[in-house]
Amino acid sequence: MSDVRIVGTGISIPQKILSNADLEKVVDTSDEWIRTRTGIAERRIAAPDVATSDMGYEASVRAMHDAGIVSEDIDAIIVATATPDYLFPSTACLIQSRLGAKRAFAFDISAGCTGFVYALKVGKAIIDAGNAEILLLVGAETMSRVTDYEDRTTCILFGDGAGAVVLAKSEIPGILSVSLGADGDGWQLLYMPGGGSRIPATEESVRERHHYLKMQGSNVFKEAVKAMESASIEAIRKADITPDEIDLFISHQANYRIMEAVRRRLDIPSEKVFMNVDRYGNTSSASVPIALEEAVRSGKIRRGDIILFSAFGAGFTWGAAVVRW
Ligand code: COA
Repeated sequence: MSDVRIVGTGISIPQKILSNADLEKVVDTSDEWIRTRTGIAERRIAAPDVATSDMGYEASVRAMHDAGIVSEDIDAIIVATATPDYLFPSTACLIQSRLGAKRAFAFDISAGCTGFVYALKVGKAIIDAGNAEILLLVGAETMSRVTDYEDRTTCILFGDGAGAVVLAKSEIPGILSVSLGADGDGWQLLYMPGGGSRIPATEESVRERHHYLKMQGSNVFKEAVKAMESASIEAIRKADITPDEIDLFISHQANYRIMEAVRRRLDIPSEKVFMNVDRYGNTSSASVPIALEEAVRSGKIRRGDIILFSAFGAGFTWGAAVVRW
């Protein structure tokens, strides 16, 4: 069986910055509270005419350029998103159309903030099974469109952006392991009530603010730490490495304190943890590929390095992956 590697990365980050000081004018909060509880200083907000597929497309073009491939080379496009342009068609189809990737099959994955790690597992399985050789994996979110800027417990956390990678069949092992999990019993702790078949859009649903994300933060916090720790331990075991072999830990950028708690439990030194949550907040499924690209670009990852990804999100879903660069 051949192996699978990440051969290109790209991101798209909106220009508009929403700082903690800006949020102080909107809700009863403070820069100090947000920084100490979350580590977030600012996040990016997409322009009104920009949707998830636009950022996903831009990140894809950059990842393809980085990998040295063209649209015709792509066998499949998988987009992880909780904020698709439309309920249907999939955001993957919209990106496929703009890229002109005529040979590619395309679909979305809904796994909350864990979406990109889910896409990595699915993408690897598709290549391993001989069904494709070159895949585009995208994590893209316009969280600002489902964030309630009257709810101080959630609006401080989220931001917009996209990251993409090109995944390819290879002779050298790249994706060493991916461990996934889910527990639907936690669905109500982090969800958006409106807009689906349960509560479709009506005047009442809008009045009741059902089209915004709802979260019980402290419960989500505890579950995230436990699940990211156990998924990481499993991924490390499956990859047949020891924790001290990890060169860089790229966690889903939800909250500085969550990452710090997971890092301590895994006994990974702080200097091996990549963080950009201070600049982007939680960009859901875009956060891992954005962090990966920034780590590569800033020289924090060198060929042969071992990277641990870990994420947690709505569902609940969680996952971890061990990757050799
Ligand atoms: N500014 C000021 N005070 C705030 C606030 C804000 N933005 N948001 C909440 N508070 C208040 C609460 O009302 C509460 O006040 P009370 O004690 O008078 O009731 C107090 O701060 C503590 O709230 P709590 O929710 O217990 O705080 P916390 O330490 O758990 O931090 C989160 C809140 C949201 C930052 C934290 O729970 C978290 O990050 N959870 C995980 C969220 C997440 O990452 N979700 C996505 C997973 S993919």
